[in-house]
Amino acid sequence: MRCSALLALAFSATGDALVRFHCSQLVTERLDPLVQPGENPSTHVHQINSFNVTMNPEKDMAGESTCTSCQFADDFSNYWTAVLYFRAQNGTYKRVPQLGNNQFTTANGGLTVYYMQDAIYDSAQKSHVTAFQPGFRMFIGDVQARTLSSASHYRQLTYTCLDTFVTRTPETIAFPDRKCKEGIMTSLRFPTCWDGKNLDSPDHKSHMSYPETGTFESGGPCPSTHPVRTGQLMYEVVWDTKSFHDLEWPTDGTQPFVWSFGDASGYANHADYIFGWRNDTLQKVLDSPCHFMTNCSEYGHKLQSIDDMNKCTQAAVVQENIDEWLPVLPGGWQAQYT
Ligand SMILES: *[C@@H]1O[C@H](CO)[C@@H](O)[C@H](O)[C@H]1NC(C)=O
Ligand SMILES: *[C@@H]1O[C@H](CO)[C@@H](O)[C@H](O)[C@H]1NC(C)=O
Ligand SMILES: *[C@@H]1O[C@H](CO)[C@@H](O)[C@H](O)[C@H]1NC(C)=O
Ligand SMILES: *[C@@H]1O[C@H](CO)[C@@H](O)[C@H](O)[C@H]1NC(C)=O
Repeated sequence: MRCSALLALAFSATGDALVRFHCSQLVTERLDPLVQPGENPSTHVHQINSFNVTMNPEKDMAGESTCTSCQFADDFSNYWTAVLYFRAQNGTYKRVPQLGNNQFTTANGGLTVYYMQDAIYDSAQKSHVTAFQPGFRMFIGDVQARTLSSASHYRQLTYTCLDTFVTRTPETIAFPDRKCKEGIMTSLRFPTCWDGKNLDSPDHKSHMSYPETGTFESGGPCPSTHPVRTGQLMYEVVWDTKSFHDLEWPTDGTQPFVWSFGDASGYANHADYIFGWRNDTLQKVLDSPCHFMTNCSEYGHKLQSIDDMNKCTQAAVVQENIDEWLPVLPGGWQAQYT
């Protein structure tokens, strides 16, 4: 009697997980094992949290890596994005450093990762979602996009101008057009419906879909072609633009930041994901009522300290200078304004 009352309470009081955790930066270099496997160097610079020239989908990521820079000790996934540069008025480029996010300020750059079952503001998180499988990978965004209409295929890849470190709205699809006091945050939300069969696809996108109607936030249903609801994977990356505020800025209305492949519009914001959680640890996390990181350890999930995350780093495979004032972006790119 007592036991069943407790159980009933446990189930009614708790939904599933909404986790928000950090991964420190592993390495910043010109490699892209998803879109340009085997190409060393790849065409543009990325920042990553286990990485190599090619990542064999047959191989288990967790088995390949010796450490992870993520807070969940069983998460050996790769989360990566392009890198931001500042273009000075004399035409040279300097890499924009990254910061740990709010609540993870001692992390060595990197990104914050969310896995959620329902909209972020829904504290109940009642839906059950299916975790990604070993070998799963995906890409979101369009490296060629230079117009709002081409970027609009990927709503939910955004920028937030950080007037304070915790500013979260408004979000824009183009780069912010003014100085952002505490930096610029990029938010990257992946599609939430899987075809249930393919771990990858030739464009690394078509095995995933947005909901058929509505949005993930409104609980829109998955299309019949992509019936498996995976929940929302989202990254947040904080770019420390402060040190560029005192330099000369453009006076023609353009803004000075440019992605590592030349996009100065911001419309080509994109991100890559290679699943690498050990065994079924992601599903276990998703099925437990752990909210943000405040009480995740109480459900038996292995966590590591930010100091230990920061210790997991990797020497760059590609040897080139990416950090001086550079006459061209690594790979030979120049800023393109639509
Ligand atoms: C963890 O937090 C969630 C959300 O606030 C809550 O439902 C759950 O009961 C908490 N678990 C523990 C063990 O405190
Ligand atoms: C990375 O790839 C190179 C070349 O394929 C290989 O020699 C090296 O052992 C790999 N490193 C790791 C850490 O897997
Ligand atoms: C270009 O401008 C930057 C920023 O003001 C400066 O640090 C750098 O020395 C300049 N480079 C050249 C070649 O003038
Ligand atoms: C987890 O997977 C590894 C291989 O990656 C395997 O050696 C290990 O036995 C598995 N552990 C559990 C608890 O299933």
